[in-house]
Amino acid sequence: MNDMTALILRRMITCADFVSGEALCRECGISRSAVWKHISLLRNDGYSIDAVTGRGYRLSGLTGRPVEAEVLPFLTAERFGRKIVYHPVTASTNILAKALAVEGAVEGCVVVADSQTGGRGRMGRIWLSPSGVNLYFSLILRPGVPSVRVPQLTLLVAVAIHQALSALSPDLAAMIKWPNDILANGKKLCGVLCEMQSEPDFTHFVVVGVGININQSEFQPPLQESATSLFLETGQLFSRPALLASVLNYFEPLYNAWLVEDDLGFIIPVLEAHSLLQSKEVTIDQLKRSMSGTVRGISRFGELKLEVAEGEIILVSSGEAHLRTCPLII
Ligand code: BTN
Repeated sequence: MNDMTALILRRMITCADFVSGEALCRECGISRSAVWKHISLLRNDGYSIDAVTGRGYRLSGLTGRPVEAEVLPFLTAERFGRKIVYHPVTASTNILAKALAVEGAVEGCVVVADSQTGGRGRMGRIWLSPSGVNLYFSLILRPGVPSVRVPQLTLLVAVAIHQALSALSPDLAAMIKWPNDILANGKKLCGVLCEMQSEPDFTHFVVVGVGININQSEFQPPLQESATSLFLETGQLFSRPALLASVLNYFEPLYNAWLVEDDLGFIIPVLEAHSLLQSKEVTIDQLKRSMSGTVRGISRFGELKLEVAEGEIILVSSGEAHLRTCPLII
């Protein structure tokens, strides 16, 4: 969508009533026929627009796509999401966001796609990204902290997503599964993939990639064993623009506090209260080894506290956690 069409769309979204053609001409500095051309482009793009002689134009139906104009009315964050780059289809929003970050994109810029052809998950896995139903986005951050702190951001954004989901659907029993998943009823609802460019003492940028299964109505085997969506859990359809804005609204203040606080200490009680693994018997698989024990909490640096023998607690900084009573969860 070109800038002028987006401007006209924004103007109509922020006005519940009719906007006169004359006002659009004046505010946008274009002719009547140009306004009409942009209205036609918007209609072709899926927007319903009433046109009434003497009154002007009124937006009567949105597309529900997570485009900037549809996210903005829900956005209260000051920096996060103030610039949203939308693609109907792309390989991976993380790849695009990293390229934009290298070119100097500002902190808070979000890349979002309706679908991904090469969505990336952790450990080299793929993230299936069908169109029209879910959220796939990547937020660019420039925290400037030592790179050792960056993995904490995964847990921080997980808390923000959990808060957004709980606000939207209070009955949803969503749980945070260290280090990067949100699950509902034992199935994966959301995954986070953070990637960064850094030196030991300084992080140039972090791309926080988030995939949330929202309105997807079915998953093919074998995924149907381990994946779910908000729709499957609640029977309701949810607005992707509203959920994207909500995650950003919750994340920004947490991120600001994290920059000042130096660690995750301020959020540990919340994390542990919603942690799927708390007090559970787990096995943690790392690249070259695995370890088992009982989860006794999360450290202020984001490590899992694992009791491997009575009274002997080790700190685990990375890996895939499997509940020992429920080996199907991935
Ligand atoms: C995982 O659980 O393995 C992490 C999944 C992260 C998927 C998101 S979708 C948006 C962003 N772009 C990607 O290619 N991956 C992340």
